[in-house]
Amino acid sequence: MLKIIKAKDYADLSRKAANIIAAQVILKPDSVLGLATGSSPIGLYKELIKGYEAGDLDFSKVRTVNLDEYRGLTPDNDQSYAYFMNENLFKHINIDKANTNLPDGTEPDAEKECARYDAVLESMGGIDIQLLGIGLNGHIGFNEPAAAFTKGTNCVDLKASTIEANSRFFATIDDVPKQAYTMGIGSIMKSKKVLLVANGEGKAEIIYKACCGPITPEVPASILQLHPDAVVVADEAALKVLMEKCPEALN
Ligand code: F6R
Repeated sequence: MLKIIKAKDYADLSRKAANIIAAQVILKPDSVLGLATGSSPIGLYKELIKGYEAGDLDFSKVRTVNLDEYRGLTPDNDQSYAYFMNENLFKHINIDKANTNLPDGTEPDAEKECARYDAVLESMGGIDIQLLGIGLNGHIGFNEPAAAFTKGTNCVDLKASTIEANSRFFATIDDVPKQAYTMGIGSIMKSKKVLLVANGEGKAEIIYKACCGPITPEVPASILQLHPDAVVVADEAALKVLMEKCPEALN
């Protein structure tokens, strides 16, 4: 069952979500954290950095696995997710870079890279907490709406709407990669705990569908309704439609 936590605004959401991850790291210093990129978790990462600087959080034994990476981008490309993680979190905390993992966007052989990343996930012995954002179309990781839920790591063709949404980070829309490697929904569902963060009114309709609508691969995030320990932390703007149409979901 989904637990939905209402935050006042983005700052409040970031603190609440960071506290959940901080508790995980304090309780289990060698936790495996599943991490996400995008704009939603940036505030949360800032809070974790503050926690480290204050001496409350120690990441020296933490291992991480990221959800996804654009296919074709090198880690030093400033639009790659490897670069994002370094800039927004890793370089500011005492994590051992050897303990951080992302799909390798430079591997041209998709089958090989998906198998390699699945083996990495397997070797971790389970993700303790997987952080997620949600796409406007309900995607998690880069698992786009489809006829079936994905299982393992896969190479996806990004939907036009996702390319459009992500173009804000690139000089022109033609620069946005058209494919990405992403952890599969099966692997996300195997995580012991899932934490999805969403903010802003633009996410209100999809948050309502994901939390209260039918469980369907057309809305990939809707499968989280079946996860035994999934938490959504969203601000009031992102919960606007849900609060109108299914207030009982706010427990
Ligand atoms: C990023 C990822 C994506 C984003 C989603 C929302 O690693 O997996 O699913 O979480 O596209 O992006 P933002 O947070 O930018 O709205």
